[in-house]
Amino acid sequence: MSATCVIGLQWGDEAKGKIVDWLTQDHDVIIRYNGGSNAGHTVVKEQKTYKFSLVPTGILWPNRVAVLGCGVVIHPKALIQEIDSLKSNGCNPGSSLKISDRAHVIFPYHFQEEQLAEQASSRGQQEAIGTTLRGIGPCYADKVGRRHAIRLGELANPQRFHDRLVEIVEFKNRYIQAVWPESQALNPEAIFEEYCDYFSTIEPYVTDTTALLHQLWDSGKNFLFEGAQGSLLDIDHGTYPYVTSSNSSVGGIASGTGIPERNIDECIGIIKAYTTRVGGGPFPTELHDSTGDLIRKTGKEFGTVTGRPRRCGWFDAVAARYTTKLNGVDALSVMLLDVLSELDELKICTAYEYEGNRIEQFPGSIDVLEKCTPVYQTLPGWRKDIQDIRTLTDLPSEARRYLDTITACLETPLKLVSVGPDRKQTIPIV
Ligand code: IMP
Repeated sequence: MSATCVIGLQWGDEAKGKIVDWLTQDHDVIIRYNGGSNAGHTVVKEQKTYKFSLVPTGILWPNRVAVLGCGVVIHPKALIQEIDSLKSNGCNPGSSLKISDRAHVIFPYHFQEEQLAEQASSRGQQEAIGTTLRGIGPCYADKVGRRHAIRLGELANPQRFHDRLVEIVEFKNRYIQAVWPESQALNPEAIFEEYCDYFSTIEPYVTDTTALLHQLWDSGKNFLFEGAQGSLLDIDHGTYPYVTSSNSSVGGIASGTGIPERNIDECIGIIKAYTTRVGGGPFPTELHDSTGDLIRKTGKEFGTVTGRPRRCGWFDAVAARYTTKLNGVDALSVMLLDVLSELDELKICTAYEYEGNRIEQFPGSIDVLEKCTPVYQTLPGWRKDIQDIRTLTDLPSEARRYLDTITACLETPLKLVSVGPDRKQTIPIV
């Protein structure tokens, strides 16, 4: 038995889905441990494009177990829509999908709270976080607060679920209307009916995944942990407060699945060959020019979940070095290298300048990060289509030099290079 984890080392959207799909060939159990339907993973298989938000991408392979662990937050409607869309694309989750009965449930008041808070902060002093508006933050806030949270397994007891839900919705209505008097009160009975319906659809998938994972581990199965978002969005280690509300780095695995971290043999860090970010918050290497526009257009850098244009910039080795260490990354997968093929020259940020000093450490405070300017190393571009290349040695020398510079900055070897969206467009490093 072995366990591998796939972790994004930037601000999410590193194309982790493709690598998880690639690695699934050697794994039996694929597990999501954090986030919810704020995530978006795209997998292209045999010319068909599959969009994932909650369901682990491993579901596309036969005889695999796909698990949503206890650290995930579930919006049942979004989950059902995703299952239906997979079914209509010829992929039936059947008995492969398992969802933790400890996972917390997202309710309509979570969406309401988030929308109102984001609108209010964009009018106030603090910039809006720019969340995906999927109810993620308010649901995790209730989980930590404990009084107003409901776990998926509780829906199996309708009477108790009803009584708790009514109490919570009445509280939320009072709270939301006190802060935002113009908001609409929610009807607890309607929500109860709606969620009982959802539960009848998803109940067959709901189980004690912690116990199941322990059994599967003891029977010698290979595990693959699929991180959602990127480490710079981690609630503790990211660019707080412009982060998501869960531990998207390796730290989230033990708490979000019940499998101890010491069981993990290999941590694969996923990086794009450049950097992107959606939502607010500092981004030292952001490009506000035609190069940024070209990367956005070539890389189709628009959010999978929200469709928002992503902010694009040069590869930030200071940030990626920090997250490489944070996660104990053993090997790197560099994604979307082909997107840079049209550029004459490329830049890699190797340090920051802060108040006249050169710093190589990623700052813990966004007040400092906001004032950092990048120090760049400039490299020649390769100006050739590389999408059909399948070995490292066949890559143009400029592309190899670019990859060598990244691995040297991150002091970590390469495992894979991706030169296109299809499974086949992958260069394994042997
Ligand atoms: P939330 O997770 O919806 O609360 O959003 C918090 C921040 O994380 C926002 O900047 C989002 O754009 C960002 N974010 C959340 N999920 C993803 C993702 O899967 N990819 C990239 N950014 C994300």
